[in-house]
Amino acid sequence: MKQTLQNTNVSNQTVILRVDYNVPMNNGMILDDTKIKETLDTINYLLKENCKIIILSHLGKIKTEADKKKNSLEPIAKRLKELLKQEVYFSKENFNPELKLRVQKLKPKEILMLENTRFLDVPNKLESKCETQLSEFWASLGTVFVNDAFGTSHRRHASNYGISKYLPSCIGFLMQKEIKNLNELVKNPEHPFVVVMSGAKFDDKIVLIEKLIEKCDYLLCGGAIANTCLRALDFSVGQSLASIDYFIIERIKKMMLKYKDKFVLPLDAIVGSTYDENYVKYKRIDKIDDNDMILDVGIKTLEKFKKIIDSSKTVFVNGTLGMYENKKFANGTKEFFRILSESNAKVIIGGGDSASAARNLGYQNKFTYISSGGGATLEYLSTDSLPALDNIKEGVEIETLDL
Ligand code: 3PG
Repeated sequence: MKQTLQNTNVSNQTVILRVDYNVPMNNGMILDDTKIKETLDTINYLLKENCKIIILSHLGKIKTEADKKKNSLEPIAKRLKELLKQEVYFSKENFNPELKLRVQKLKPKEILMLENTRFLDVPNKLESKCETQLSEFWASLGTVFVNDAFGTSHRRHASNYGISKYLPSCIGFLMQKEIKNLNELVKNPEHPFVVVMSGAKFDDKIVLIEKLIEKCDYLLCGGAIANTCLRALDFSVGQSLASIDYFIIERIKKMMLKYKDKFVLPLDAIVGSTYDENYVKYKRIDKIDDNDMILDVGIKTLEKFKKIIDSSKTVFVNGTLGMYENKKFANGTKEFFRILSESNAKVIIGGGDSASAARNLGYQNKFTYISSGGGATLEYLSTDSLPALDNIKEGVEIETLDL
C-alpha cells in the first residue's frame, strides 16, 4: 500500500488535498453528493490534526470558455460547508500569485477550496498536460500533499501526479479504502467469481477483459462488449454499438475460443431503431435485423445471468446491461440490480454508470462496495497500478481503517 495518512505527519501542516468532486450537476444543482460525503473522513482527520486545508478538484470536461460557466466548484464548496458545519472559503482564482497571501492568512482548521482545476485547460491544457509551472505553483501553497481523488487517479494531471513530485505525499482514506477493496477482489476473490462487463465502450476494456478472464469463472457480457463478441461469432448486431476494429475482433475471437466455458452472452434483446424512436421490439439474439439497435437484454438473458449470480461468491460489475437512462430500455439494468441485491455474493460495483444506477435504484447499501471511480477501477484492475500515485512512496501496511 502507498504511504497513508496514518503514517504521515500532517499535524499543523498546510495540506493540499486533491479530491474527486466531479459530481453530477444540473444547472448548478448537485444531483448526487456521494463523492463529497466520501471525503469527509479524510477532511475531519486533517481538521483534528490542526491542518490548514486547501482543496483541489476537477468538475466536468472543460474544453471551452462556455464549459467553465456550468462547472464552477462554488456550489460544491457550499455543500461541503453544510456537511462539515463549518466555513469553506472559495477562491475563484486558482493560479495566481496573490493566492499565496490568501493561503498565508488561513488559520489552522480553516478550509479553502480553489476553483475547478480543469479551468486551466483552456486554452493550454496546463492541468491535463501536467504542466510543470502549474504543478510547482500548487505545491508551493502547502507543505504536505494528500491525494484522495481515487476517481481521477488513472490520469497524470498537475493537480494529482504533478504536485506529488514536489511535496511529501500520501493517500487519503477514500483512496486507501478503494485500493484495499480492489486488492481483495483481484488478489484473492472467493470463487465462483463472476465478472459482469457491459456499457457503451469496448475497445478500451479489452485489456481488462484479457486480464480478468483468467481469474474469473464466468464473464457475463452485455452492451457493446456482448455485441462485439456476437459480431466475432458472425451474428448480425445491426446498428448496435460494437467494435469494428479487426484486431480487437480477432483478439476477442481467440479469447472466446480459449475460454469458451467462461463467456456468457445474451440470448435475447430489446432493440430500438436509429430511424424510428417509437420502434421497440423483443428479439432473439440470432434474429437481429440490419436496422436494429440492441439497447437492452431480454428476459431469457436475465434468467441465465440469475442462475450464475445465485451460485457465485464474488461478483464484480462494470457498466449497465442496457441503455438505462431511457425508460424503454431500463428493465434489464433494473432487474439485474435486483438480482444482484438479492444474492449472497460479495458484490462490488466498479464506478461510473453502474455506480450511479445502483444508487438511483436505491441499492447503495445493498452491495459490498460501490467504487467512486469507473476509469480508475478499470485502470487498477487491468494494470495493478494508478498512474497518479507513481510519485507516492510505498508505506507500511495497515490492515484496518480505524476512523
Ligand atoms: C469520474 O467521474 O469518473 C472521475 O472524476 C474522472 O473524470 P474524468 O473521466 O473526466 O477524468
